[in-house]
Amino acid sequence: MRTRWLAVVALASASAALPACEAPGYEPPEAERRIELADSLYSPALFDTIQWPSEEQRATAGNLVYADFCRRCHGPVGEGGVVEVAGQQIPVPSLVAAEWRLAADTEAVRQRIFTGHVGGMPSWGISRLTPREIDAVAFYVQELLRPEMLEAPPPVDWGG
Ligand code: HEC
Repeated sequence: MRTRWLAVVALASASAALPACEAPGYEPPEAERRIELADSLYSPALFDTIQWPSEEQRATAGNLVYADFCRRCHGPVGEGGVVEVAGQQIPVPSLVAAEWRLAADTEAVRQRIFTGHVGGMPSWGISRLTPREIDAVAFYVQELLRPEMLEAPPPVDWGG
């Protein structure tokens, strides 16, 4: 008990001695740790109770989420490419390739969006998107982003 108090006092005086501008800031976890954490929080059951008044509303919500959070990396119609993120060029995969291996696997798409990947895909399930928003955008990606769209604009353009 005594040593614990001593440690607290030592810590408090060490931080009091630092000038404000040199106070240690919060360091977010490394990408690997973040992905591990997101993966441990993921469960397919998160999506069990989600209901939509209509598929149209689900698609519209998904389009909005895509425009706000995905388009800057995956491109307006999901074509992917090389994108600059925090000063680094990262390759972003196409979501509309004719032979996309996740095209028909809704659970895998939701999990990938929720968990992210060390290759540069953010962990949307932690503090960013709700399961409902992930459900909507996964639906949008699988049902509305199609290879044909590489030649045609998306049905609804939310601008921005
Ligand atoms: C900062 C850039 C960035 C943003 C923003 C982003 N992604 Fe990604 N995404 C990536 C990268 C990079 C990968 C590839 C990661 C890897 O597997 O190496 C990826 C992978 C994916 C995959 C898996 C593809 C596959 O074939 O394995 C899906 C699905 C996906 N993203 C959907 C989304 C959705 C939906 C959004 C918006 C909520 C989004 N992404 C936002 C960069 C991004």
